Amino acid sequence: MVIAKTVAELQSKLSELKEAPLETGFVPTMGALHAGHVSLVERAKKENGCVVVSIFVNPTQFNNPEDLKKYPRMPEKDFKILENAGIDVIFFPDEEEIYPGGRQDKSIFNFGSLENVMEGTFRPGHFKGVAQVVSRLFEIVDADRAYFGEKDFQQLAVIRELVRQRNFRVKIIGCLTVREPDGLAMSSRNLLLTSEMRREATKISQALFHVQRMQKTKAIPAMREEAIAMIESSGKLRVEYLEIADEKTLQPAVNFNSHESYRCLTAVQAGNIRLIDNVQL
Ligand code: PAJ
Repeated sequence: MVIAKTVAELQSKLSELKEAPLETGFVPTMGALHAGHVSLVERAKKENGCVVVSIFVNPTQFNNPEDLKKYPRMPEKDFKILENAGIDVIFFPDEEEIYPGGRQDKSIFNFGSLENVMEGTFRPGHFKGVAQVVSRLFEIVDADRAYFGEKDFQQLAVIRELVRQRNFRVKIIGCLTVREPDGLAMSSRNLLLTSEMRREATKISQALFHVQRMQKTKAIPAMREEAIAMIESSGKLRVEYLEIADEKTLQPAVNFNSHESYRCLTAVQAGNIRLIDNVQL
């Protein structure tokens, strides 16, 4: 396994590997790896001869400086996990490699209505920052396939739109959300929860599963209200948004239309940690 810290190192390793005509799978991450990340890596390994995983905590997608500062970083542990998973190449750049000459203007990215709802409203500029780093990474790695989790469902939609707008050749593969045994969606941020908030946080997926079970038997406003009340029942968690949205456009739905598919998506504040989750309806 090679740990490349520079674009030059990475590309020389990749051209060595590609002498045999291998397809390349790419899994971009911000590290603090868990079984959710590993599921993407396993899928990439199944479908490609060579797999690259990047670990880079991208400052331009954090709208809150405190969140960036406390984001968990544990590269040595991550390297071990990836070595055990049989990864060929890790790309572990510093900021200068990703943004040579400073952080460029991210306002060139525009995803219209996709970034004006849910995460886009509560984290202004977040998706422009994600698009900025992911397009830079796509240019550097030039993979055949890139793997993203449905856990960040709106991000996945933005990435698909980015690829469409910029004509990247990479094929985007969406992967199912991996959960803890009690249903909590795995997230690097779970490490930052107090034990009380960790217990409370199970209510998030319970409420989403409840919506899934109620599916289409009630009106959307009533379903949302019930789910929000479940999450906030003990007054410890605070729902930022909980929407039932059209799965393609991500626009909040008012009524169910039998021709469309829907998702329930939520963001919840657990103390000072923000958690997101979603389920398909
Ligand atoms: P990060 O949060 O590290 O996630 C990396 C990838 O793992 C994303 O595609 C995310 O959706 C996926 N993932 C996270 N938790 C998951 C889970 N429980 N089950 C399945 N997949 C899961 O998302 C980012 O990093 C960044 O925004 C990034 C795309 C790397 C750009 O900086």
